[in-house]
Amino acid sequence: MNNGLLKDKVALVLGIANERSIGSAIAQAFAREGARVIAAVQTPELVDRVKKSHPFLEALWSCDVSISDQIEALASNLALTVGKVNIVVHSLAFAQRESLKMPLHEISAEVLLEALNISAVSFPVLTGELLRQGVLSEGCVLETLTYAGGERYVPGYAPMGICKAALNASVWTMANELGPLIGARVYGIAAGPISTMSARAVPNFPALLKMFPSLCALRQELKPEHVANVTVMLASYLSEGMTGNIIDADMGLSTRLVSDSSQAAEAKSSE
Ligand SMILES: NC(=O)c1ccc[n+]([C@@H]2O[C@H](COP(=O)([O-])OP(=O)(O)OC[C@H]3O[C@@H](n4cnc5c(N)ncnc54)[C@H](O)[C@@H]3O)[C@@H](O)[C@H]2O)c1
Repeated sequence: MNNGLLKDKVALVLGIANERSIGSAIAQAFAREGARVIAAVQTPELVDRVKKSHPFLEALWSCDVSISDQIEALASNLALTVGKVNIVVHSLAFAQRESLKMPLHEISAEVLLEALNISAVSFPVLTGELLRQGVLSEGCVLETLTYAGGERYVPGYAPMGICKAALNASVWTMANELGPLIGARVYGIAAGPISTMSARAVPNFPALLKMFPSLCALRQELKPEHVANVTVMLASYLSEGMTGNIIDADMGLSTRLVSDSSQAAEAKSSE
């Protein structure tokens, strides 16, 4: 349903690899709500593919966020061709696949720092560059995709856990630094499990995905569109009274400590 919630807004979305990406659902939801949507993808090879599958995108550039020259080039392209951007969505992460199978203390500093740089540091660095080049509008909204593994231990999420913890801290910090400066609102959206390329690299992800509907409060599968609609709400005037929040978009999973079945099993064994 189009409610025109983002009419006259310009949105920049980073992190579309294919149509399953959460970033893809976000770009579509923003366009549905009347925003002009621009995207930046990781590699030049992805540009044509993503353009074809997302014909509504007004512009599409490549930007590998681990390369500072490319962040600078993205900001200057935006400054030259688009002017001001009202909404920025950072929906990207990376960790070497093998490191997800290792205990944290066995992962090398190089591998951890690469994950941290791409998955967390890139959010404030990109924001800083957009600000310096005059691209961020007064009252802009900055959103990033995070996960409960940044607040609590999740098996198989070791290197990403510290990345998401740092990312969450960047949300709180930038909300309090950029709020007074340009009235920016900053949010993290902690999504539940969705079958995407990155998520499938996490060990035990298929099992978690299968169990999810029986574990969460709303007893249903989480779709990228559910998460995308939360990003629309946060980008719209509806969220003007809040900033610096990490919002759980997870069908209520994070509101509970144990599943009904494990509680029932425990009760049975103690009878
Ligand atoms: N899918 C889930 O279950 C889930 C749950 C919670 C949070 N998230 C988060 O959502 C975000 C999007 O992930 P997704 O699930 O849509 O997976 P995805 O694989 O579709 O997207 C990840 C994106 O990161 C991009 N990327 C990786 N390295 C990059 C680099 N150096 N420069 C620029 N882009 C780079 C990839 O190109 C890709 O577009 C991530 O932050 C992820 O941690 C996902």
